[in-house]
Amino acid sequence: MADIAMSNFRGASQDAPKTASSEPARTPTVVVDDVHIVYKVHGAGSGKGSATSALSRLIAKKRSPAIREVHAVRGLSFTAYKGEAVGLIGSNGSGKSTMLAAIAGLLPTAKGAIYTNGQPSLLGVNAALMNDLTGDRNVILGCLAMGMTPKEVESRYQEIVDFSGINEKGDFISLPMRTYSSGMAARLRFSIAAAKTHDVLLIDEALATGDQKFQKRSEARIRELRKEAGTVFLVSHNNNAIRDTCERTIWIEKGELMMDGHTDEVVREYEKHNRA
Ligand SMILES: Nc1ncnc2c1ncn2[C@@H]1O[C@H](COP(=O)(O)OP(=O)(O)O)[C@@H](O)[C@H]1O
Ligand SMILES: [Mg+2]
Repeated sequence: MADIAMSNFRGASQDAPKTASSEPARTPTVVVDDVHIVYKVHGAGSGKGSATSALSRLIAKKRSPAIREVHAVRGLSFTAYKGEAVGLIGSNGSGKSTMLAAIAGLLPTAKGAIYTNGQPSLLGVNAALMNDLTGDRNVILGCLAMGMTPKEVESRYQEIVDFSGINEKGDFISLPMRTYSSGMAARLRFSIAAAKTHDVLLIDEALATGDQKFQKRSEARIRELRKEAGTVFLVSHNNNAIRDTCERTIWIEKGELMMDGHTDEVVREYEKHNRA
């Protein structure tokens, strides 16, 4: 196992972007080693998922209907380092969200392994906020869940609300989350997660929502988080957000690696590919 990881480090340091080469020894934070991820979809056959058919199957002691497998990630390998912001691009269904969830430890690998140095946090469209609780309750709960002390939460609270911009047009932070537009909810989610310094921060299209002002604020915050020595992964359909935030980009299609290198080169090739 150690051998595989070591050879992977060597391979990666040769063709990784040279931006961090001023540091003699870079610290790897995420090592993805020949990872395969397979979703198992139950009851994919027609009509087999109904209650009566399940009951008759039970009585007849028959096996459950066929399980369909979706092979979402096929043999991806890369290493990310401390202080890096890595863009992840590819067309819909190419496996970007799956890869982030796996790095966060939310999905098992069917083959291969993911090693992380530090605690990865996934900040995305599915981050768990409670819809029936007010925005301010969610800020407090979210901060506590990230490991802040009640004192820290108290001192960061106003900053988080201000950053989110939720209260710019009135007192919305005291309303339940379910009354928020998807953009407002995404902004609050981002603001909570960005209040803490993360070892490995995984962002899934969080920047796609929010107005221009919020986008600029969050890009600046991502740059700060990077300086605070973490590693950032960013999934976005906005190539300019990737260009502004990441010096390195990984392009995947159908769960396979297409390119890994300088953002400018990779995004240029990706755009060429999409025009063709
Ligand atoms: N929960 C799931 N169950 C089954 N298949 C899924 C699930 N989530 C994603 N997939 C499939 O995995 C593949 C990759 O999806 P995803 O990672 O969401 O792509 P992307 O984020 O790049 O758009 C797609 O084929 C998608 O249909
Ligand atoms: Mg996705």
